[in-house]
Amino acid sequence: ATQTRSYHDNIVEHYENPQNVGSLDKNDITVGTGLVGAPACGDVMKLQIKVDANGNITDSKFKTFGCGSAIASSSVATEWVKGKSVDEVLAITNSDIAAHLKLPPVKLHCSMLAEDAIKAAVQDWKSKKGNGLKVEEVAV
Ligand code: FES
Ligand code: FES
Repeated sequence: ATQTRSYHDNIVEHYENPQNVGSLDKNDITVGTGLVGAPACGDVMKLQIKVDANGNITDSKFKTFGCGSAIASSSVATEWVKGKSVDEVLAITNSDIAAHLKLPPVKLHCSMLAEDAIKAAVQDWKSKKGNGLKVEEVAV
């Protein structure tokens, strides 16, 4: 059979060669930053989104100080949020990510970090946007 790059190989990539590692400028008003920790193990994940004027996510980066499953979950999360709206990504659950990576039950909290980080990033972006609007109103 022809060897094509399988779905499973792509998942392995998230472990061996995580996508979208890095940082966006957290002071940029179009950037939302989510910083969350896992009480179970002390691991920490930072996930950032860059949002355009229509509320669509154009870029995402992460930095995770944690286990391989947390890093792979971050990598999947950054891939999934790109091109979606800030409201759509709130529907991404840790069970989606865990199922995608075939995480064993003891590693479920690692994917929970990614879900929490997405939600925290959207929340941060929304609060910045709210503040931005107030500043404009005051200026007018
Ligand atoms: Fe990359 Fe599914 S293999 S998100
Ligand atoms: Fe805690 Fe993976 S995030 S062991």
